Amino acid sequence: MSDWIEISIPSLRGKEKEYLEECINSNYVSSIGPFTTKFENLISEKIGLNENGAAATSSGTTALQLGLLSLEVKQNNLVILPTYTFIATANAISHVNAQPWIFDIEMDHLTLDHKKLEHELENKTFQKNDSCFHKKTYQKVGCIIPVHVFGCPPNIEEIKRIGKKFNIPILLDSACGIGAKFKNLNLGETDLPGIISFNGNKTITTGSGGIFYSKEKNLIKKVKHLSSTAKCTNRYDHDEIAFNYRMSNIQAALGLAQLEQLDKILNDKKKIHLNYLNAFNNCSKFKLISDPNWGESSHWLNAIILKEDNKETIEKLINKLREARIRANYFWKPLHLQNPYQSSMRNKLEHLNEIQERILILPSSSNLKFDEQQKIIKIIKSYFQ
Ligand SMILES: Cc1ncc(COP(=O)(O)O)c(C=O)c1O
Repeated sequence: MSDWIEISIPSLRGKEKEYLEECINSNYVSSIGPFTTKFENLISEKIGLNENGAAATSSGTTALQLGLLSLEVKQNNLVILPTYTFIATANAISHVNAQPWIFDIEMDHLTLDHKKLEHELENKTFQKNDSCFHKKTYQKVGCIIPVHVFGCPPNIEEIKRIGKKFNIPILLDSACGIGAKFKNLNLGETDLPGIISFNGNKTITTGSGGIFYSKEKNLIKKVKHLSSTAKCTNRYDHDEIAFNYRMSNIQAALGLAQLEQLDKILNDKKKIHLNYLNAFNNCSKFKLISDPNWGESSHWLNAIILKEDNKETIEKLINKLREARIRANYFWKPLHLQNPYQSSMRNKLEHLNEIQERILILPSSSNLKFDEQQKIIKIIKSYFQ
């Protein structure tokens, strides 16, 4: 183990080793095996769905891709997403040969701005045969993907209302959202399909992996079918061109052990968030991003946002923290500035060109010790004094 205080590392303190040994002893190491179903059932329960509410995949990105296909997003459709997200959200859209339509964010929690979303759809789209089309390009708007940012939910109620009004399905990118609540609703109780990532830096991990979740059984069935090469008989009959995206038994074994510790991990993360919040309460130069009035974050990552643009400040602070062997870093570069998406359709986003320079993510692992966190807080506070 390194002696650095890291930003987000896994906490593997449950039955991970025992379950992995079980995979090896039973010889079930690939996509067939008992852990995958157990993992799918337990995660369904944890996010407020009935048994069989989840399809486990090889990553969050592949879950997004299959989610879009299950919602019937087709080639050349437009898919709406916020500019402030990990590039995987846009990549999944490209992987189904659809095109991103990049939207603005609200500045308190950096999630999709529902007011601007409604305004743009009013002005730039028309309805035909119960579907939504772009006025200039005649492309169908196939889906809206709101994103949980740092674990913070977007305003799901408003976005759902807008989706209904304009006949556009919604797929939640809750890659970082396990444990987040909209009002009092868990992810699965919002009635929207969505995805979660279990990459190594997430709240819980399967090494690499993801799930697609939904209360609609036909969507789950479709994603499972597409993730396992659309195989329909034991005689190698496949009824469409599909993918090898199913989560393996080994990944699910790790995931099951992690899920059994989820409540404690979420609780530890909440305590870490509240400590930062308490410590940075009166700082005039920056703000800790915290819970929205419409719900509660999963507190996956803690981040501060500078009140004024100042390129140097973040860079120098990162270096200061690194001198003390504390990892802190810039976070996402907005999509509209990413090379592969330079020419994607977008709304007015120039005011966000510098956003990456204003945000610093802080160590947030569930096993971060209290005295380690105090050290981080002290350096940041003294830097801004
Ligand atoms: C917002 C968001 N969407 C999608 C993904 C993709 O998940 P994965 O890395 O499991 O493919 C991530 C991963 O970090 C993410 O942060």
